[in-house]
Parts: sequence; C-alpha cells; structure tokens
Amino acid sequence: MSSKKIVFSGVQPTGNLHLGNYLGALKNFVSLQKEMNCIYCVVDLHAITIFQKPRQLEDNVLETTATFLASGLNPEKSIIFNQSSVSGHAELAWILNCVSRIGWLNRMTQFKDKAGSDKEKASVGLYIYPNLMAADILLYKATHVPVGADQKQHLELSRDIAQKFNKDFNCENFFPLPEPLIHKNISRVMSLRDGTKKMSKSEDSDYSRINLKDSADEIKKKIKKAKSDSEPIPSDIKSLQNKPEALNLLNIYSELTKNSIEKIISEMAGKEYSNLKTKLTEVLINEITPVGKEIQKLLKEKSYLKNILKKGTEKANIIAEENLKNIREKIGLI
Ligand code: TYM
Repeated sequence: MSSKKIVFSGVQPTGNLHLGNYLGALKNFVSLQKEMNCIYCVVDLHAITIFQKPRQLEDNVLETTATFLASGLNPEKSIIFNQSSVSGHAELAWILNCVSRIGWLNRMTQFKDKAGSDKEKASVGLYIYPNLMAADILLYKATHVPVGADQKQHLELSRDIAQKFNKDFNCENFFPLPEPLIHKNISRVMSLRDGTKKMSKSEDSDYSRINLKDSADEIKKKIKKAKSDSEPIPSDIKSLQNKPEALNLLNIYSELTKNSIEKIISEMAGKEYSNLKTKLTEVLINEITPVGKEIQKLLKEKSYLKNILKKGTEKANIIAEENLKNIREKIGLI
C-alpha cells in the first residue's frame, strides 16, 4: 500500500459560512496544507440534496470558494475545485451505492435530523448522501479527512464502505481507510442561543451564529445577546457541565486565544460573563472581520474565482480518472 498521505475535505455551498465551519474545519484545512497533499472541494452535488435556487447555488459556490481563499487556503498548494465539475464523484457514488448497505444508511443520524418528521418527502439524494461523501474521499484515495465532530458518523461509514469494497473485490488495502481529523478542543461550536445545538446555517435566528461576513457591530451585538449564565465564572471546569452556553463561549475564547480553558477559568473565576464577552468580542472581531472583508473583495472578482476552480478541476480530474480506471477494472466494468 502507498504510504502517501492525502487529505480530502468538502464544504457545502449553502451560503454564509460561520464560526463553526471556520474553527471546526477551515482552520484545520489551512494548517494541513503545509504538511500534506490537500484536496478541498465545494460540494455542490451534496447541496442539491435539498432544493437550491439555481442562480443562488452558482453564487454560493463562488462565495464558498472565496471563503476558502480568505481563510488562507492557497491554490498553489492545495487543489480547490467544485464537486460537480469532476464527474468521477457521481460515478463512484453509484458504484458505492451498490457496496453500501441500507442498514448502514438507516443508522445515519444526520439524515434523521435533516429529513425531519416527514421522511417520505425527503429526496432520495439526502438519504444516500453519505455514500456520495464516501465517494468524494475514496475517489482520491484520501487517507485523512479534517471535519467537525458532526461528520464523524459519515466518516465511519466511509471506512466501512472502503473495507467492504476491499473485501468484496479481493483487493486488500486498495482503498485506504480514511482517518477523521477532528479538532480536539473545538470539534463542535455550539449555537449562541442554545448550547445543546451545534452552530448551523439552518438555525432560524441569525443571533445563534457568527457569520464570517458579519461586521464588527454585528459580532458585538450577537456576543452581547449570547446566552451565558447568571452565576459568575466558576473556578473549576466541572461546574460548567450543565451550562453548555457558558462552556461554549469559554471554548471559543480558548481556541481563539490559544490558551487552555483551565487557564482562562483560573484567571477569570468569580467574574461576571460580561467580562468574558468583552474580551471574546475583541478577539472575534480581530480574527473574523479581516476574513469577511477578504471574502467581499474576492466576490468582486468572479472570473478569478472561476479560474481557480477550473485549474483545480483539471488537477483533480487527473487523479480521479486514474483511480477510476483501476476501480472499474477491479469490478469488471469494461
Ligand atoms: P458542512 O458543509 O455542513 O460543513 C463543513 C465543515 O464544517 C464543519 N462544521 C462544524 N464544525 C464545528 N462546529 C460546528 N458547529 C460546525 N458546523 C459545521 C463540518 O463538520 C464540516 O467539516 N457532509 C459535509 C461535506 C462533505 C465532506 C465530504 C466532508 C461532503 N463530502 C467529504 C468531508 C469529506 C457537510 O455537509 O459539511
């Protein structure tokens, strides 16, 4: 088996990426490009599992590309492209639909969450979405996949599918079993309104999240309104166990300042959360508003963004075609 490390990850172009995407995924993408071969994909085929307005989807693909670049991805180092432009993703997804098991898909909690109470009305695409995700990763024989904790179950499924393919077609180690790279400290950034839910694009209230395009003023207002706790900051982390909103604010602050949560607590114990909020607002504004400004700037250069995707597509296609040739051969497709 080749020992080459290949990183793959994807982000859905559903507009307005937020602090959860940034801390849980994008920052990791950027640091990995220093040490490994990285492939980062704007997963437009995943987005259409829920209806998207066509012109809006086009804009969102470019905005997600701009967000990749504004967060620090370098197209000279990493391959950056959109999923639908490399047809191998759809082809391998079909093959993997035939390897994956219905029982495995039935266990996927994200489908249950996204389909809501009326599962009969969800698209078939939404149901088999995790197989497409496995195809994204295995098409490049990726070994490492940086994601937030919400994607862990999908990655476990990708490993099961890889393993079953290798066994069914008697080709041990043909597909590497992709390893999730999940941030230890901040694998799940929570909603600012309800600390038991993850920060998400789909939550109704914009006050639940910090968007990467938010202005300094918006960040200030959102952190001011964020739920915390009526009691002062405790001196030990155990006391935060049932206070998810307070813990979330401390976790975000810890991540952005690169100080351990224990250190922060020991320095701020006994103080009101308004103290933490003032400091958090300042570090958030410093970190996020330059990214937002860069996104806005890049969005004015649409042909530049399209060109990045085009070049990325060419590079991704070469790897995908080579791997697909071997995959077809293993299965007996001539
Ligand atoms: P998506 O588009 O929902 O999210 C993109 C990335 O952001 C992470 N993330 C978070 N991390 C921490 N806290 C949060 N609140 C938070 N919200 C989102 C996600 O974990 C993800 O890493 N199915 C994937 C996209 C995908 C993919 C792939 C990922 C398609 N194919 C292959 C890896 C490999 C998704 O919907 O991510």
